[in-house]
Amino acid sequence: MIISASTDYRAAAQRKLPPFLFHYLDGGAYAEHTLRRNVDDLADIALRQRVLRNMSELSLETRLFNETLSMPVALAPVGLAGMYARRGEVQAARAAAAKGIPFTLSTVSVCPIEEVAPEIDRPMWFQLYVLKDRGFMKNALERAKAAGVTTLVFTVDMPVPGARYRDAHSGMSGPNAPLRRMLQAMTHPSWAWDVGLLGKPHDLGNISAYRGSRTGLADYIGWLGDNFDPSISWKDLEWIREFWDGPMVIKGILDPQDAKDAVSFGADGIVVSNHGGRQLDGVMSSARALPAIADAVKGELAILADSGIRTGLDVVRMIALGADTVLLGRAFIYALAVAGGAGVSNLLDLIEKEMRVAMVLTGAKSISEISADSLVRELGH
Ligand code: GLV
Repeated sequence: MIISASTDYRAAAQRKLPPFLFHYLDGGAYAEHTLRRNVDDLADIALRQRVLRNMSELSLETRLFNETLSMPVALAPVGLAGMYARRGEVQAARAAAAKGIPFTLSTVSVCPIEEVAPEIDRPMWFQLYVLKDRGFMKNALERAKAAGVTTLVFTVDMPVPGARYRDAHSGMSGPNAPLRRMLQAMTHPSWAWDVGLLGKPHDLGNISAYRGSRTGLADYIGWLGDNFDPSISWKDLEWIREFWDGPMVIKGILDPQDAKDAVSFGADGIVVSNHGGRQLDGVMSSARALPAIADAVKGELAILADSGIRTGLDVVRMIALGADTVLLGRAFIYALAVAGGAGVSNLLDLIEKEMRVAMVLTGAKSISEISADSLVRELGH
């Protein structure tokens, strides 16, 4: 059954990828309640159909951080994207740039900053965690600056990694993980050829460049776990605010008070996010959190949102709930896994088409005309 392009891509990705990679991407924390809520709550929001309003002139363009976006969508930072397609971050960044939208490189990407940034003709965004190794943070920020990165996305909802039980079952972690991964690769030959063989080195590119030695996939979970810093507070971000003169976005906000604190801190934007249901299972969906956050801070900084967005209709819903722009994570990685950059381009084209249909039939001629009035009711009302 076809429900959306991303569900089709998801099914095809499941066939193509070794299970450890599919489940690392597809899974969430604990019982995955929040992961499901993110998708289900969005699907539950009814759009308000309007007709006969001369919708011949439609614009999806939006401005954000002094950039023009062809539509209010950016690609989210996703760790290990280069394990899903050969030099996957480069392919996805090119597809995003060709579409006229930003690409965000993850700290824990396979391809380093220096490999991706020169491949695109628009400024790249870069994501950083607050890590114990401040030397690495400073080094990464300096390199991002040198590569022409404009916007810094600071992920703050990972002071500890959420337990993803699927990873222990799938061979991403747990007993005999390296052997299990190798056996899975051997039984998924098109992936093994494209990524396993031709996509090398399978490094955490940004970290290897800093350390001066290779960091293999086996180091991934360990490095993340060792480096997260449960002591972080707003004070720890101050030196970065001083060091980084471009836009700074705080990713992982789910509460209006934290959104207000981001304004006081001087952030240029926030991402309303529960990390795609990958951190604290049981928290509410981004769609449900968004209206109260928009009430608290709309207009004071840019409101971005992610978690659960799979279609162009979901993009319109998130904007109607108060977001200025959304980030796509899993949706684009499923497409990347199946068909590389061409898959991402196709997905983005379909998202745009779906947005156009939604805008025509809700009577919104531009992104700024999408509002709470575009919905029949808000969630929880
Ligand atoms: C990393 O940020 C992850 O969600 O796995």
